[in-house]
Amino acid sequence: MEEQFLDLKNSALSLILDTESLTELEEIRIQFLGKNGELTLLFKEVTKLSAEEKPEAGKVANEVKRIIENTIKQKSDELTKKGKSKHQSLDVTEPGIKPPLGHLHLVTQAIREITTIFGHIGFTRERYPEVEWDWYAFTSLNFPDDHPARDDWETFFIKQQPDSKMGPVVLTPHTSSGQVREMQKKQLPIKMLNIAKCYRRQSDVSHTQMFHQFEGVVIGQDISITHLKGTLDYFVKSYFGKDRIARIRPYHFQFTEPSFEVDISCGICFGKGCKLCKEGWLEMGGAGMVHPNVLKFGGIDPQKYTGFAFGWGVERILMMKEGIQIDDLRILYGNDLDFLKQF
Ligand code: PHE
Repeated sequence: MEEQFLDLKNSALSLILDTESLTELEEIRIQFLGKNGELTLLFKEVTKLSAEEKPEAGKVANEVKRIIENTIKQKSDELTKKGKSKHQSLDVTEPGIKPPLGHLHLVTQAIREITTIFGHIGFTRERYPEVEWDWYAFTSLNFPDDHPARDDWETFFIKQQPDSKMGPVVLTPHTSSGQVREMQKKQLPIKMLNIAKCYRRQSDVSHTQMFHQFEGVVIGQDISITHLKGTLDYFVKSYFGKDRIARIRPYHFQFTEPSFEVDISCGICFGKGCKLCKEGWLEMGGAGMVHPNVLKFGGIDPQKYTGFAFGWGVERILMMKEGIQIDDLRILYGNDLDFLKQF
């Protein structure tokens, strides 16, 4: 009986290994494993054996069946693969394999869009140090040494001996540190756009320790609040859409006088007040007329020149832009591809 099984195995294997066609392979399968196949019939013989002979013969029978099935499977895979590659080399219409394409981070996209919008009205993009002297970040912006308003900026300090004039070294907490640096270039009129990383000691759903601001500064003759308001309106309509408007509210900053908070009308209710915005307006950031003391620090005569400045968070306006709702700002920097791929 075992002999018969082994003979059957040998003849099946040689047929399987010899064939070059899937149809023929299927015929071989039926010949051995089909309902009336040779192996199936032999299995039936096993059931007729005595109780002592049965287990041993059954074992061999199963082993032979397993080997034949496996060999058929292997051969079938091999023939399918071969068939495909032959097919591919001929089929020039088959679509190619696209390599995965990445794209710019959504904060980078926003920075580029902001740059383009301000570029259209003559602003030039500038960059200033991220690791900055306290003097540029605060003192030159009209903050006396021990003024409590310094605390509003929750600054990171670098471990380094402070300089007698420039003070300690900090991670710049706002893009306003570029204001006096720009004035020191002594090229008037000024129309700069400073977009940079800023750092503050705060981390929660609406703050990351590293974030981006974009700061506009315009200085020249007869620059007034009207110019500031016009620029804000232009930006708001270009970035958020034609239907949105900006408003300014009195506020306080050390480096601007007068100072304002800029709000933008809500994209859902357009200023009427709704569930999302409550009051109809969303807070966008600070602005104001450059303080005469700051002009003096920058070597500019405040009797001859005036200017305005504004500074807003890139991530903040990105969140406010219609269609993008982010519950937790920190996801922007979480490297979660499922999130980032959407933009
Ligand atoms: N630097 C201010 C801030 O970080 C914003 C601001 C910029 C205010 C320019 C007025 C003028 O909050």
